[in-house]
Amino acid sequence: MDVPDGYRWWQAGVIYQVYPRSFQDSDGDGVGDLRGIVRRLDYLEWLGVDAVWICPVYPSPMADFGYDISDYCAIDPLFGTMEDFDRVVAEAHGRGMRVLLDYVPNHTSDHHPWFVESRSGRDSPKRDWYIWRDPGPDGGAPNNWLAHFGGSAWTYDGRTRQYYYHGFLPQQPDLDWRNPEVREAMLDVLRFWLSRGVDGFRVDVLWHIVKDAEFRDDPPNPDYVPDDGPYNALAHVYSTDRPEVHDIVRRMREVLDGDADERLLIGEIYLPVERLIAYYGENCCGAQLPFNFQLIELPWNAERIKRAVDGYEALLPLGGWPNWVIGNHDHHRIVSRVGYAQARIAAMMLLTLRGTPTLYYGDEIGMTDVPIRHERIQDPYEKRVPGLGLGRDPERTPMQWDDSANAGFTAGTPWLPLADDSAVTNVEAQREEELSMLSLYRRLIELRRAEPALSVGPYTPLPGAGDVFAYGRRDGPRRFLVALNLGHHDQVYPLAPYEGVVILSTLLDREAEPVRGALALRPNEGVVIAVV
Ligand code: NOJ
Ligand code: MG
Repeated sequence: MDVPDGYRWWQAGVIYQVYPRSFQDSDGDGVGDLRGIVRRLDYLEWLGVDAVWICPVYPSPMADFGYDISDYCAIDPLFGTMEDFDRVVAEAHGRGMRVLLDYVPNHTSDHHPWFVESRSGRDSPKRDWYIWRDPGPDGGAPNNWLAHFGGSAWTYDGRTRQYYYHGFLPQQPDLDWRNPEVREAMLDVLRFWLSRGVDGFRVDVLWHIVKDAEFRDDPPNPDYVPDDGPYNALAHVYSTDRPEVHDIVRRMREVLDGDADERLLIGEIYLPVERLIAYYGENCCGAQLPFNFQLIELPWNAERIKRAVDGYEALLPLGGWPNWVIGNHDHHRIVSRVGYAQARIAAMMLLTLRGTPTLYYGDEIGMTDVPIRHERIQDPYEKRVPGLGLGRDPERTPMQWDDSANAGFTAGTPWLPLADDSAVTNVEAQREEELSMLSLYRRLIELRRAEPALSVGPYTPLPGAGDVFAYGRRDGPRRFLVALNLGHHDQVYPLAPYEGVVILSTLLDREAEPVRGALALRPNEGVVIAVV
């Protein structure tokens, strides 16, 4: 892609997240794989994205579907071979696309040789690579820390009579990042993949990797709602987001910066914005993009979203680059959260706000959450904390490519069921359909690529009106106004003193219409206006 002068590829570009199990199967085992990804790179090039982030493809017992890694420097045979991986990189690069990998530094699998060694005895040389503690005074867990997927974060090892800490599943023991040997070994993992041509990493649960040195109890969460799951009963002020984490983020970044071309460090961080921005690091020597999940978390309301966007823009540190996300493999799909009509507004927002957008596979065709019958549940979260709708299978179902069997995803039995509507909602059908969600995404990406104002230009807050969220973007003389109707009724937005021409409507039927004075927006309509 052409990057505007003075900007980096990851500032101007669009990132596309592939959940490899569900993107494209090539060998009929019902699970997506690397050769499948290669097969679909032409599609991603056509869509216009600049980077592909691939969720974990490393050897794993799959207790958490790849987020429990037993070897950081290899490929799980389920996904293919190292040669297949090298081909993904080469073929993506050949199309001008970057490749980002998932990096999971907080925990390994309990099958990782490091942990097997660590649990073998108290005097194991790897004992202090993990977090082992004696039982508490009552003989129970060392403190009250909770595991994200339910229950205590401590599991007792009868043989060595100590507990080990795991912020997620018991099969995902946390590494002790205070140990310099762990740091070096894990930074070597980054070096390994950089040397294979990877362009950056999305770092899993970055805010978890350092825990309180004194292991103080987490206090109760005053805002706890039981529907959010038992983990949220506590405020995780000691088990996560400790100040020492920032030194580690800086070291990760240093490893990436050692490389000629600029590599990208994205941090997965679920924290209030005030704490999130600390992950840019001092002088922005931390993560270039601490993931900003506000559009996933906020109620879908024009006033609330405007306040959040303006607030985020105002809080960013000097040199800190914004980013936006509307979906990922851990949250219900945007269409299921806000409805199909508003998901088109979300698409326009994602691709016209200032900041790097990350797009979750399938959202570009408006995939919905797929209800999963009890006997087909895969996600350990749903199995351990059932019935609250916290399970993540519904948003991880196979990509819908065409109207053939299993939507062209697999010749075998898919690991998760296909959506009922896959014969209609699929890439092939929507490519031909001028007004489809896919056409909208493609047009938005194309527009963003063509207009630096929309990728890297400054953001100008504009007054809201009713359900309308509006803002300006500019690049020299090129000025745009984006007006998004987040409601289901007609709205009128007072445009003056601006006037212009509609460049794109989310309904794709209003191009070149001159607008001045009062801008009429139909229910669930958003427009990009070129200001004249
Ligand atoms: C965050 C990942 O996105 C999620 O899918 C995973 O279960 C946890 N981290 C644990 O690695
Ligand atoms: Mg396969």
